[in-house]
Amino acid sequence: MRVISTVSEFQSALDHARLSKTVGLVPTMGYLHEGHGSLIQRANSENDFVAVTVFVNPLQFGVNEDFSTYPRDLDRDVELAKHSGADIVFAPTINEMYPNYPEALPTKVSVSKLSEVLDGKSRPGHFDGVATVVAKLFAMAGKVSAYFGEKDFQQLAIIRQLASDLSFPVKVIGCKTIREADGLAASSRNVRLTQDNRRAALVLYKALQLGKELVESGENNSITVTRAMESLIKGEVRAELDYATCVDPKTLLVPDVIRNDVQLLVAAKFSDVRLIDNLKANFPEPINRAGGGVQNNDVVKADSLRLERG
Ligand code: PAF
Repeated sequence: MRVISTVSEFQSALDHARLSKTVGLVPTMGYLHEGHGSLIQRANSENDFVAVTVFVNPLQFGVNEDFSTYPRDLDRDVELAKHSGADIVFAPTINEMYPNYPEALPTKVSVSKLSEVLDGKSRPGHFDGVATVVAKLFAMAGKVSAYFGEKDFQQLAIIRQLASDLSFPVKVIGCKTIREADGLAASSRNVRLTQDNRRAALVLYKALQLGKELVESGENNSITVTRAMESLIKGEVRAELDYATCVDPKTLLVPDVIRNDVQLLVAAKFSDVRLIDNLKANFPEPINRAGGGVQNNDVVKADSLRLERG
């Protein structure tokens, strides 16, 4: 397996591979864990050649965020990438990606609407940084299938939108969240949790499970679901809640009344470590009293008909 560090080597390696092979791309910020391993393995099972990128992107960190303390270990990443089935690792320096860094890049990619809610509110500029670096990687990579974790649910929605809006020849593939044995979502930041905070952080998954139980048992008031998740997280003294919410999985907006499946999302800080997680909740199909199921869409249609008729 080769490790390369320049944009031109990366472009030529992928152009060369594409002459006879399908190419999978796994963009990461390094400090690879089991979750990344599963993305690389999936890319490997669906493509003939797999490129992993390792780059801690300064544009997506705010001034008071953890850019300098974000864990880094390229040798370990290379080993994990190799064992998971990667063919090359592209690990550029900051100046290779942004030649005038720390001067601001004149060009910025910004995906409106989807970037303005949830983490976009708490971390201003974060998703512009993500969208800009991902657009650069897609532009370098060319025609590939690109693999991202569903743990970063909002990021995945933004990347899908950007790939489609800017017509990148990239198939964006979302992959299931990998969890540790007790349910904590795998994250490079988990290594920075103290033992007590590691234990406390489990409250995020518990809150998601509680929200899921409520929605799946027919609770259709999004405020009730949100409040239940919030109060569970607030009950953990080590957690500093950012948000706990339930949104439409496409628009990322909160429905007043839940009528279809929703995505539950949570974010909280444990000392200086900010963690996020999410879970899908399937809203039950309404029971048709005359027997047989009624589609949720039918209920929405019926409601809007009533509205139209006044
Ligand atoms: O999810 C990540 O690791 C990063 O946000 C990404 C997509 C590699 C962009 O830097």
